[in-house]
Amino acid sequence: MSEKKIAPFSLDFNLITGMCDSGKAKPTRRFVSNMVKQFNDTAAAEEIVKNGDQPIYDFYELDQIPETGGDLKFGTSIVFPGKVGDEYFMTKGHFHTLLDTGEVYFCLSGQGAMLMETPEGEVSLIEMKPGEAVYVPPRWAHRSINTGKEKLVTFFVFRADAGHDYGTIEQKGYRKLVVERDGKPTMIDNPRWDA
Ligand code: NI
Repeated sequence: MSEKKIAPFSLDFNLITGMCDSGKAKPTRRFVSNMVKQFNDTAAAEEIVKNGDQPIYDFYELDQIPETGGDLKFGTSIVFPGKVGDEYFMTKGHFHTLLDTGEVYFCLSGQGAMLMETPEGEVSLIEMKPGEAVYVPPRWAHRSINTGKEKLVTFFVFRADAGHDYGTIEQKGYRKLVVERDGKPTMIDNPRWDA
């Protein structure tokens, strides 16, 4: 089926930092300025941007892997510790464009949670800690949230043609938010969720 093929290869990922120390792969970085509207406290996000911005996460995508149904995309995601207002730093979150495709995230270091929801409104929040794998089934949007004081580092694998639908989450938001309450991560309803 596929015209593009890739030869076998290997790649290093640091088990603590998640970085590809050899430089064979290059990460993409997302800043608060890339996600102002995704945080509940937009004013707090704008304040951070005004004061010079802050990185929220790095991730490796491995563009060299063809986007076919037989290939697998993999890489690491590194979410920095921090908050916007009382909401923890998190990834943008996405559905897969091919909705019926799942994903595995294995936590290498740090502390956090995977927030997931389906288009029908089911919600799941699963703790991420080193040595634990989280299974994201088909149809579930997924977002990593760093609730700890170190970087949250995960290794992920998904079907290479799954694609990323960021737009649905950007427009509607998630139904739930994870915020700090009395020093602890707490899931609350998103007051700005747009059905
Ligand atoms: Ni995904």
